[in-house]
Amino acid sequence: MDRDGRPFDLPAPDELDTPCLVVDLDRLEANLAGMAGLLAGRGVALRPHAKTHKSVAVASRQLAAGAAGLTVASLGEAEAFADAGCDDLFVAYPLWAAGPKAARLRALQERARLSVGVDSAAAAAVLGAAVAGSGRPLQVLVEVDAGLHRTGVPPGRAATVADAAGRAGLEVVGAFAHAGHAYLGPDRVAAAADDERRALEVAQSALLRAGHEAWVLSAGSTPTAARSAAGAVTEERPGTYAFGDRQQVGLGSCRRDQVALVVAATVVSAAAPGQVVLDAGSKALSMDRPAWLAGHGELPAYPGVTPARLSEEHAVCEVAPGAAAPPPGEVVAVVPNHVCPVVNLFDQLLVVRAGQLVDAWPVDARGRST
Ligand SMILES: Cc1ncc(COP(=O)(O)O)c(C=O)c1O
Repeated sequence: MDRDGRPFDLPAPDELDTPCLVVDLDRLEANLAGMAGLLAGRGVALRPHAKTHKSVAVASRQLAAGAAGLTVASLGEAEAFADAGCDDLFVAYPLWAAGPKAARLRALQERARLSVGVDSAAAAAVLGAAVAGSGRPLQVLVEVDAGLHRTGVPPGRAATVADAAGRAGLEVVGAFAHAGHAYLGPDRVAAAADDERRALEVAQSALLRAGHEAWVLSAGSTPTAARSAAGAVTEERPGTYAFGDRQQVGLGSCRRDQVALVVAATVVSAAAPGQVVLDAGSKALSMDRPAWLAGHGELPAYPGVTPARLSEEHAVCEVAPGAAAPPPGEVVAVVPNHVCPVVNLFDQLLVVRAGQLVDAWPVDARGRST
């Protein structure tokens, strides 16, 4: 979309087998450079979350633009990126390394510079057992809760987990937090960023007081990155910033003309009055919708047309009275609400520059959620 809300140019319709994902390379590169430049200016490391794109081609560009390494959400994602030669990986998740995961963790640790999240003494013991006898200690970051109340201990209790990690033979290198409560709405972003920074500073004091290291104080979300990259924070882990999406526009973390990925979809029916139907249902757009946004995405070229209902292969779009609607057969761009689950639904990203198809990148870590 440009400043008027129009989408970036798609390739000719006969080059698109819809539904499919189209990435604008100029916008992607500008987004990567923007975040890298912002954080470099603050002296804060960038470790982008690769779960957004799951793509080696995008990760390589992030690393070339100065990222210190990658963040991932699962061992499977870590394996996929390690296979491609990205070997500095943080699993920002309280990994429970039991069963088959123990051997996988051990094998990965032998071939990559790996750190993982931990938020309990019990998980630390399981991690320690998984890597016992390995040539080098596994590095861990204690997860602290900055206000999302999902995982992580209260920041003041970081040392309790760190003590247990030390007893389990793990190397504590710091703490991490994710201020996901920023997603509750545009009015929550600033306070969530401040919560994130403060939580890490409290964790740092607790760790240092107890004689642990706190080299890494890792904050991470796209909406909070610009504000929480301050004080004691050493690292940021934004992911969605690479592509942007409708939710990020609503939160104020990117402009419409910075959104770099759309779902291309074909109008397949206009049989019922007052609506058109696209071939992009929940299997293309996902069901993700924040409570403060109406609809399952937006059609920038048709502001009066809203994807109001999804079934698996259909997006039923309501057409506002008097609004222009695309006719059957037209290929339209849909900006998804949340790009991360959308990418996980596709095998490839079609890459365009100035409306010309220039590449197709595999979604290498698609489905590697285990
Ligand atoms: C632990 C963690 N770190 C970083 C991120 C990246 O945040 P965002 O998607 O806002 O870029 C996420 C996203 O869910 C996350 O869960």
